[in-house]
Amino acid sequence: MRKRPQLLSPRTSIRALGCFALFFVLAGTLWLWDAKPQRRMGMKTGTGTAPIAAPPSATYEEPHPVAHPIDYLMKKAYGTHRVLLGKQTTDLSSTAKAYRKRRGRHPPPGFDKWFQYAKKHNAIIVEDFFDQIYHDLNPFWGVEAKGIREQSKHFPHVISVRNGKLTVKTDIERDWMKLWKDLVQKIKGFLPDVDIPVNMMDESRVIVPWSDIDRYVQAERKSRGTPPVKAVVKKLTGLKAFDQDKTTPAEPPWITQGKFWDIARVGCAPDSPARNLAAVDDFKGPPPIPVGFPLGSFEGYVANWTTTKDPCQQPDLRESHGTFVEPISLKTTNKLVPIFGGSKLPMNNDILIPPAMYWSKDPLYSGGENHGGPWESKKDVVIWRGGANGGRNRVNNWTRFHRHRFVSMLNGTAVQGAETNTTGPGQGPNFSLQSYRTYHLTATRYTDLGSWLAHNTDVAMVNLICFPGTQDNKCPYTDPYYEVKPSMQMAEQYRYKYLPDIDGNSFSGRYRSFLLSTSLPIKATIYSEWHDSRLTPWLHFVPMENSFIDVYGILDYFIGTGVNFKTKNGTVVVEGAHDEEARTIALEGKQWAEKVLRKEDMLIYVMRLLMEFARVSDDNREKVGFVEDLSE
Ligand SMILES: *[C@@H]1O[C@H](CO)[C@@H](O)[C@H](O)[C@H]1NC(C)=O
Ligand SMILES: *[C@@H]1O[C@H](CO)[C@@H](O)[C@H](O)[C@H]1NC(C)=O
Ligand SMILES: *[C@@H]1O[C@H](CO)[C@@H](O)[C@H](O)[C@H]1NC(C)=O
Ligand SMILES: *[C@@H]1O[C@H](CO)[C@@H](O)[C@H](O)[C@H]1NC(C)=O
Ligand SMILES: *[C@@H]1O[C@H](CO)[C@@H](O)[C@H](O)[C@H]1NC(C)=O
Ligand SMILES: *[C@@H]1O[C@H](CO)[C@@H](O)[C@H](O)[C@H]1NC(C)=O
Repeated sequence: MRKRPQLLSPRTSIRALGCFALFFVLAGTLWLWDAKPQRRMGMKTGTGTAPIAAPPSATYEEPHPVAHPIDYLMKKAYGTHRVLLGKQTTDLSSTAKAYRKRRGRHPPPGFDKWFQYAKKHNAIIVEDFFDQIYHDLNPFWGVEAKGIREQSKHFPHVISVRNGKLTVKTDIERDWMKLWKDLVQKIKGFLPDVDIPVNMMDESRVIVPWSDIDRYVQAERKSRGTPPVKAVVKKLTGLKAFDQDKTTPAEPPWITQGKFWDIARVGCAPDSPARNLAAVDDFKGPPPIPVGFPLGSFEGYVANWTTTKDPCQQPDLRESHGTFVEPISLKTTNKLVPIFGGSKLPMNNDILIPPAMYWSKDPLYSGGENHGGPWESKKDVVIWRGGANGGRNRVNNWTRFHRHRFVSMLNGTAVQGAETNTTGPGQGPNFSLQSYRTYHLTATRYTDLGSWLAHNTDVAMVNLICFPGTQDNKCPYTDPYYEVKPSMQMAEQYRYKYLPDIDGNSFSGRYRSFLLSTSLPIKATIYSEWHDSRLTPWLHFVPMENSFIDVYGILDYFIGTGVNFKTKNGTVVVEGAHDEEARTIALEGKQWAEKVLRKEDMLIYVMRLLMEFARVSDDNREKVGFVEDLSE
């Protein structure tokens, strides 16, 4: 059943409408009969540009054969997490052993110091938590070590460590640089000599063609090995001799214009759906609506978070995420050079460190010491406030920006307008209602989607940044569709139960605070972060598709009809809520974040990363290792 997404021309799609409708009914019948969850994983009933056939019926009532798919996904997440926890190590020798098993090498020099630091700070040590480091650094084993050192040192923004002392090179005073410097400062005594080139832009910077990365990664695999103790060199060469060398390397070639989608997809595997799909030219009107359940979902809900987040697997994103419509700034290279930054796309080759905002004490991002009151005291409402960013939105393409789409989709008035639209069924002025009917909503048995949303959501932009914009922070072309509301402090947002978190120009800097709060984060993103392998979707947060097709299903599951919801005849109906489940994820996520996303955990991650980076930048890298735990 898994199909490659295919985009149809508008005329074909009108003709295809009937087919899709029939397909729906058939597909619907199929999953009712198919009771084995595994067989339904990743099912996709088809894709296309077709708008929905008819306004979603307010009385759609398909009995669901098994417990809700989210019940199943939550149960599965719990199991996944248990397995991960079972891999915890608590002494140096088993930690080094787990390292050798997973990485195929001896650990880097200083590993014992790293372990002691982690232990002293009560870190939960699971080797898998560091997978991102190896994902990011492994390709560098395929290029010359000297080149890595040169590119690192000559980048315009560098934090350098020499003999445990820190120096910083940059142009002007920069907040991010200050924060990252402060972070590295805390662990400088443990670090080898190293140059850390850091990205000062929101956007990630390195996209190496997939075939090159494949070659580099093969080289890394070939270079693996755990030579006998006597053959191992226990110390890095250091940068003394290198610092005498005055040659300046050629700057990597920068790409500063062109369609970002076309620049980015070279990083996708040759057989991925995105690789050969060229960028779209016309961004007028709402983005095409994927029909049926999303790829990698279980009955429509995220089941493979990696697939959901990956634009290589989800090529619809080329015309429905601001990053690909038009990023704010573009300066990227096809050459594998080291650049450290807070987030990246799956096709990027930047090296991840914890984002500077996660180190910040700014209450705008962190909510200060306030993480929210008890669950029971919160409003049963979805809250979201954010700027109209996500890229450079313009008059001809703003409908393709994820934040604009999200705010429209959760706006009860706008949705009701679309539902009752007789000229264009399912059409808002600038968005199309996605066919959520496959999601078996409880609430829509009693009411229309718009009234339900109006009762349960409070979602708004705090500005309408646009290009070109006007002086007063208004936007001539989006003003009619959005009401700008004042921004809201985090602490205030924590009075609400549901906190959707979606990308801005890159990742969202609030995510860590949301995880640490007593409210429930609902997360959609295409960006990777340092902490990804520590968090289990459906246990620590609720994952969401970037098309947001599943948002109504998710909210329906947790909120049901909503508190004090009155149907048209005035009776109050309370049905379908899973408040206890929402509370469980909110609090599991919080407890877990307090154990593995602490500032200490960021330091432990960065220390490990820099020890590895110093080794891969060393001419002697294949011989250098930590073997003190082994006997001769
Ligand atoms: C938004 O809707 C208006 C009114 O229907 C239309 O004129 C405009 O072209 C639309 N904008 C986009 C970007 O589709
Ligand atoms: C998730 O999908 C990726 C490909 O996008 C695949 O490599 C991985 O094995 C899948 N994971 C699971 C648990 O199915
Ligand atoms: C977005 O729309 C503007 C205005 O029409 C256009 O100049 C720009 O090229 C569009 N972006 C892309 C990536 O096509
Ligand atoms: C109804 O749909 C048409 C396009 O099909 C659109 O131009 C119009 O703005 C929509 N009306 C409402 C109230 O959403
Ligand atoms: C919701 O949509 C309506 C109709 O398009 C619009 O007038 C209103 O400003 C929107 N509200 C918000 C919070 O954006
Ligand atoms: C009002 O509507 C609800 C839900 O649709 C229904 O269960 C109930 O019987 C209705 N009550 C009256 C008095 O019609």
